[in-house]
Amino acid sequence: MKRKKIIAGNWKMYKTAQEAETTIAEIANGINYNQQNDVWTATPFIYLQNLISRFGNTTIKFGAQNCYTKDEGAFTGEVSAKMLQSIHCSFVILGHSERRQYFFETDIIIHEKILAALNHNLLPVYCCGETLAQRNTKKHFEIVEQQIKEALYNLNADQISKIVIAYEPVWAIGTGVNATSEQAQEMHAYIRSLLQTQFGDAIADAIRILYGGSVKPNNATALFSQPDIDGGLIGGASLIAKDFLSIIESASE
Ligand code: 13P
Repeated sequence: MKRKKIIAGNWKMYKTAQEAETTIAEIANGINYNQQNDVWTATPFIYLQNLISRFGNTTIKFGAQNCYTKDEGAFTGEVSAKMLQSIHCSFVILGHSERRQYFFETDIIIHEKILAALNHNLLPVYCCGETLAQRNTKKHFEIVEQQIKEALYNLNADQISKIVIAYEPVWAIGTGVNATSEQAQEMHAYIRSLLQTQFGDAIADAIRILYGGSVKPNNATALFSQPDIDGGLIGGASLIAKDFLSIIESASE
């Protein structure tokens, strides 16, 4: 099956409001509108409403980097999926390894966030991936299997069909050391085989699995040409319009 690729930027906690506008304008102006892939950007929460109202009519879809499990209530500092839906946000990254590491998110909490996002028509981008120590001790398949199982296995067919998965080996994030295209393909094929067993061929075949971890203009083509890699979740290089545009072009080759 031919899956439409997604090139998604994750801006993390970078850029002022002015810088955010300038960068999105550069991307919107530079994009080749004949290219057929989905282009998504997850900015900090506070810029979303402005960016969606100013650039929502371009090909770029905007998303958040997190949301809370509940719709509303006395949860100081949190932002709900319901709120994100009310500003026409399209997707939300959930379970990023930085959320797991610094904010102690578990697969159980992430599963609840996935349900909240789906309830409010936000497409969840579910992140999974092993640490270097886990890979070095050959536990990487087991770890990723557990993450997929705990967060996704009890979704129904309709729910799982709306999920995008991002395989992001922790050792490749922000390090400049990407997984080789063979390593990434091997894990993506493994994730797809898990989905096949749990949800059947048609669903597994349609789910888009992105690779994240030091995707740059010079390695994007090799990664995106793998059969089970359906695009990328891009951190550092998504902050620079020229680099992000170049990665978008790589996905069209
Ligand atoms: P880098 O592209 O900076 O390695 O970050 C990847 C990432 O964490 C995307 O979510």
